[in-house]
Amino acid sequence: MTTLWSGRFDAAPDAAAFEWGSSFGFDRRLFEDDVTGSLAWARALERAGVLTPAEATAIDAALQEILEKGRRDPAFVDGADEDVHSFVERLLVERLGDAGKRLHTGRSRNEQVSLDLRLYLRRRIPALQAAVAKVIRALVGQARAAGDGLMPSYTHFRPAQPVLVAHFLLAHAAPLRRDYARLAAAREEANALTLGSGAIAGTSYSVDVHALAASLGFGRIVANSIDASSDRDFAATFIYATALTMVHLSRLSEDLIILCGDEHRFFEFSDALSTGSSMMPQKKNPDPLELVRGKTGRALGDLLALLTTMKGIPSGYNKDLQEDKHAVFDAEDTLTGCLAVVASVVDGLSLNRERAAAAASGLLLATDVADYLVGRGVPFRRSHEIVGALVRKLVAEHRSFESMSMDEWRAASDLFDTDIVARITPYASVAAKRTPQSTAPEAVSAALAELDAWLGGLATLK
Ligand code: ARG
Repeated sequence: MTTLWSGRFDAAPDAAAFEWGSSFGFDRRLFEDDVTGSLAWARALERAGVLTPAEATAIDAALQEILEKGRRDPAFVDGADEDVHSFVERLLVERLGDAGKRLHTGRSRNEQVSLDLRLYLRRRIPALQAAVAKVIRALVGQARAAGDGLMPSYTHFRPAQPVLVAHFLLAHAAPLRRDYARLAAAREEANALTLGSGAIAGTSYSVDVHALAASLGFGRIVANSIDASSDRDFAATFIYATALTMVHLSRLSEDLIILCGDEHRFFEFSDALSTGSSMMPQKKNPDPLELVRGKTGRALGDLLALLTTMKGIPSGYNKDLQEDKHAVFDAEDTLTGCLAVVASVVDGLSLNRERAAAAASGLLLATDVADYLVGRGVPFRRSHEIVGALVRKLVAEHRSFESMSMDEWRAASDLFDTDIVARITPYASVAAKRTPQSTAPEAVSAALAELDAWLGGLATLK
C-alpha cells in the first residue's frame, strides 16, 4: 500500500498497525464531501495560478466521474487506503497522473478532514431536523385527536392536577421544538471554511479563501489556522444537540411506558409496535421505547467520548481526533433510528378516554377547592389549611369531594356555597386556568394552532 507520506520512510508501514490506524472503514461516509471539497479546491488553485485551466478541468472531470461511480455503487468506495482522502487522491492519480498529484498543493488532510465533517453535518442535519419535526407532528396529531380529553398531571410521580391530554402531549413537543433549533445552531457552527489553514500555519499560495468559501456555500472562514486544525467544537455541539434530543425521547418513552402500563392504561400501544413474551402469554411489552431509553445512555456516551478526546490534546492536529467520526456517526445513527420509531409509536397510540379522565378526578381537585375559598376572600395559606384538613378526613374515609353533602361542605367552611359542586370537576379545574402556557382549553388550542403553523412553514421550506 502506498501512502500519502511514504517518501520520508525507508520501510513500508507495519501492516497490522497501519490497518488498525486507518479510518477508511468508517470515514468512507465522508466520500461525497471529500470530493465536493476537492472540486472546489481545484478551482481555487486554478484561480491562484497554481493549476492551469486545462489541469483544473481535467481534475474536475475525473472527480465528477469518481463521485458518480461512488454514488451509484457504494462498493466502489473501497480499498486498502489509509482514509477517504487517500482513497480519492489515489483514484485521481490513477486517472490523471501528474495533474492529479498537483491537487494537494497547499492543502493538508488536517484541514480537509475538518472540512469534510463540516460539509457532512451541513448536509445531514436537515434530515435529523425533519425527523424531529415528524415526532412533533405525531404528537400534535394525537393532541388534536384527544380534544377535551382529561388526565392527571404528576409531580413527584404523585397525581397533581387535572390537565388536558393534549397539554401533556404538547409538553413533549416543546423540548423537541428546542432540539430542532439546537440542531440548526449546530449546523450553523459547522458552516465555516477551514481550507487555507494548511497543516497548521496557513498556506503559501494566494488562494482566495472568501471566494472558495462562497463556492462551497460557507457563511464564513475560520479565524485561526492553528485552532482550525484541532477544533472539533462544532462536532461536540452537534453531539450535544443529538444527546439532548435523545434525553427528550427517553423521557417521552418513560412516560408512555408507564401510562400504557396496566396500572394506568391511559393510552394503548398499537400491537404492531409492541412485543410479546416467549413464556408469559399475557405480556404486551413496549420494547421499542425501552430501546430508545436504553440507547440514550449510548448517545450520552458519544458526547463524553468526544469531549474526553478533545480535552487532552496539545495545539494542532493530533491523530486522536480521528475518533471524532465514531462519535458523530454513532450519535447521528442512534438518533435517526430512535426518532423514526418514536414517531411510529406516537402515531399508533390510542387514548383510553374514560380511564384517563377517571384518574383526573378525586383529591387532585384539592387546589381548586382551596382556590374557591380564595375567591371568597380567604387568604391562600388559610384555605390550604382548611382543605388540607378536609382531605385528611376524606382520605381516612376512603372518599373524595364528589361524595360530600352540602352540610359537610358547610361544616368545613361556611363560605362553601351550592356552586362548589359544579366548580369542583376536572374539566372546571382545567377551564379555570388563565395563562397562555397553562392547560386552559383556549391556551392549548392556541398552542396547537401555533405548532400547526410552524409545521406548515417547514413543509413549504422543502
Ligand atoms: N484520517 C484522519 C482523521 O480522520 C485524517 C487526517 C489525517 N492527518 C494526519 N496528519 N495524519 O483525522
